[in-house]
Amino acid sequence: MQELKITGGRRLSGELTISGAKNAVLPILAASLINGGVTVIENAPRLTDVESSLEILRTLGCEARWSQGNIYIDSQNATRCRIPSSLTGKMRSSVIFLGAILARFRSAVISAPGGCELGARPVDIHLRAMRALGASVYELAGDIYASCEEPQGGFITLPFPSVGATENAMILASSARGVTVIKNAAREPEIRDLADYLRALGVGVYGAGTANITVSGRDSFNKYVSHRVIPDRIEAATYLACVCAAGGSATLKCVRPDDMRSVLEVFRAMGAELRASGDELSIAVNGSLRSPGGVVTAPFPGFPTDAQPPVCAALLFCGGVTEVTETIFENRFSYAPELRKMGGDIKISGTRASIGGGSALHGECVSARDLRGGAALMVAAVGAGGESRISGLEHIKRGYADPEGALKALGAEVLLIQ
Ligand code: UD1
Repeated sequence: MQELKITGGRRLSGELTISGAKNAVLPILAASLINGGVTVIENAPRLTDVESSLEILRTLGCEARWSQGNIYIDSQNATRCRIPSSLTGKMRSSVIFLGAILARFRSAVISAPGGCELGARPVDIHLRAMRALGASVYELAGDIYASCEEPQGGFITLPFPSVGATENAMILASSARGVTVIKNAAREPEIRDLADYLRALGVGVYGAGTANITVSGRDSFNKYVSHRVIPDRIEAATYLACVCAAGGSATLKCVRPDDMRSVLEVFRAMGAELRASGDELSIAVNGSLRSPGGVVTAPFPGFPTDAQPPVCAALLFCGGVTEVTETIFENRFSYAPELRKMGGDIKISGTRASIGGGSALHGECVSARDLRGGAALMVAAVGAGGESRISGLEHIKRGYADPEGALKALGAEVLLIQ
């Protein structure tokens, strides 16, 4: 079992190139099914969730592989419309394939994954959106069955701006007859990236990045498409949090600071100096940091739920008490007991965390239980005095391609123990 050994407490200094965004590449991989042709994806991160998506595409009959650092998909010979539970269990976000399989084959069966570590994570909004476009959908024994003779454009008003449901709706609407309007759509940058990919396929997509997205469907698509994935704003936020925890400075390359405003605002309020120039972002942390006041997660452009765990870990190194409220997922503080083992003052009450900064953290053997909770442990470990060992790396590798290499590039003392 792999472990990350981090000897913390030394100031960071370094430069790091940020990878392509996990949350952008996964829906694009699903959407690559619909053109029955070739998609080349540049800047795709080498993550286990990406490998799981490639496996799903291969199971459906596509050719899907890495080629010279890019992902190459040929969906021409795809024939199957069912994702078995052995694959949905590996990647809980596999429901994102529902719209794409329906668009291509008019019929889809997705085995629902088991319970989720972040909370219930229901899919009712996804299913409602599929139905609004003419699909008949039912759930039986944990599997989702969906079919439609011909998807029809329609009006969809989402009860919540669900990222995944917006993506599913956009993908199915791409192959629907007529125009679809999605109201109260998610506005995340990853939605804009999916829209760019769909436009490259020839689909008319307007308003992505706003709460009203219009999709003008087609019955044939461009057969050769290449797309470059946007940078991962959560990976960038995680490594900025590391610098806040340990002190020092760093320059992140290949980022989009405009997509990170709410997170950067928090780091600035903590007292970090941030400078953005083009696609580079520099951070310097000299002297002690202070509480930024409250932090509340919210759909974009609000503070992202995925950045909450690493930022909470950084708050342990700021003077004062910070109240953090999680509004997206009900069970997103499961990493808190591990931080407490390291001496962190973090109290949880329902969906709120109260974080007392200023107590010295010490190295400890801790275990990641989910992806972003694991990121929080990395942040705490680089700031804590002494040696930490983080197990449960399989969770971290779902979203961070090379945490050892990245932390080393930032000047941390880190070793991957096989
Ligand atoms: C969420 C995050 C996204 C993040 C991703 C990966 C938000 C709004 N979404 O997207 O930024 O990148 O996790 O960690 O921050 N819900 C339902 N029914 C549904 C779908 C969702 O009730 O059918 C609820 C969820 O339980 C949750 C909320 O809506 O409370 C957000 O869900 P959604 O945006 O769909 O989640 P993801 O697409 O996984």
